[in-house]
Amino acid sequence: MKKLIFGFLAPVAATSLLVVSAVAQQGDATRGKKMFVDYSCYACHGFSGQNGPGKRLVPMKMATVVFTAYVRSPGTNQMPSYSAKVLSDAQLADIWAYIKTLPDSPEAKDIPLVQQLKAEAGK
Ligand code: HEC
Repeated sequence: MKKLIFGFLAPVAATSLLVVSAVAQQGDATRGKKMFVDYSCYACHGFSGQNGPGKRLVPMKMATVVFTAYVRSPGTNQMPSYSAKVLSDAQLADIWAYIKTLPDSPEAKDIPLVQQLKAEAGK
């Protein structure tokens, strides 16, 4: 009977562990938001992630690993590199998760004022 119970419970436990670690890797956007400010990302990428002297980060199309690799060594002297001592992989996953929540700007066709001005200009 013991064997039977273990045989049933072990896979259940293993599965829930997998679920928990998958969730942990997704990053926490709330923590990421604070770090986006504390580590000056906003200074070059804007609070919206899409203005300032740095590149647009929204919509974020990089996978977390690619994002992390980039921030570790941007390969440009315009952005400082953030080593694992400064920001861990987990912290960067949080920042990534936060950037993912930032809304993209609407297309010109979806902005009523742009449509109105175009109509007035006869275009
Ligand atoms: C001093 C200014 C500065 C700071 C601070 C900064 N960046 Fe950047 N970042 C840049 C610039 C400039 C680029 C574009 C470099 C290029 O393409 O030559 C860039 C590019 C990026 C890219 C690549 C975007 C793409 O699509 O190629 C990512 C991702 C990024 N930054 C994330 C971050 C994060 C996260 C932080 C904070 C931890 C941060 N940056 C802080 C200036 C900055």
